Amino acid sequence: MHCFKESGALITSAESVIIDTDKLLYVLESEHPKYEYLRASLLDSENSKRIKNVSFAEQSLSIYENASELLTNLFNNPETLGNYEASKLIVNDIVETILNEKYTIKSLMSIASHDYYTHTHSINVAIYALSLGSFLDFTQKELSELGEAALLHDLGKSKIAPEIINKNGKLTDAEFQKIKEHPALGYTIGLKLGIKNRKVLEGIRHHHEKVDGTGYPFGMRGEAIPYYARIIGLCDVFDALTSRRSYKEPMTSFEALSLIKTNMKNHIDFNLLKKMIEMFR
Ligand SMILES: [Fe+2]
Ligand SMILES: [Fe+2]
Repeated sequence: MHCFKESGALITSAESVIIDTDKLLYVLESEHPKYEYLRASLLDSENSKRIKNVSFAEQSLSIYENASELLTNLFNNPETLGNYEASKLIVNDIVETILNEKYTIKSLMSIASHDYYTHTHSINVAIYALSLGSFLDFTQKELSELGEAALLHDLGKSKIAPEIINKNGKLTDAEFQKIKEHPALGYTIGLKLGIKNRKVLEGIRHHHEKVDGTGYPFGMRGEAIPYYARIIGLCDVFDALTSRRSYKEPMTSFEALSLIKTNMKNHIDFNLLKKMIEMFR
């Protein structure tokens, strides 16, 4: 058995994972590396008074770094329960930051990284979706559900060959067909992880549906597309446009929203887009 103590938080290993109110965390020895985020988070909550004095930039950088590391682990080992549990803590961190009225939408948006990798993209989409959800007066429970679905929305890509996912040139038809499997694959991984919340699962499975019925996997239309999936779909496009890719410079938020409004109005929920534009004002 292994245990260590730091700044008042004790971590020890055992046969299962249990967190109690005294911040005792029992983790299977072999699972230790995957609980680093959890450990950091516990230490953070232990020192929450000190953290309140940390600047927004430092706090958001720390959330982003932790989230980035976790998402890398999650994509490498998508079915590991510890990684999924830690992703909920990240969602909580982002929700708490977003619900802190001190911070404006603009400062929250500045957390998002402008380089595009699947894991940074997932964090960005979660930040945008949660900002929009907060602007729409979602309850804390709804924000947690939405954040979880947004963070995990592309998890199915972990089951597709990296050569296809990271290909810079135009995809062949066969490759595109393969890519199109990722929302359903993500849904299956979600089930394996024990996610029971239908809204979270549907948010993952339907984020590529389009309101005119030309999306996938089901070709759903309009409001038949689950609400969280419509939010994630919009934030997904927004991040793709505002991130730097090897073959393109990022658009500004204004340029991206204008382009979506002009060229994608049949794909996205127009009312949500109007809300997003309002939020940026
Ligand atoms: Fe996707
Ligand atoms: Fe995505």
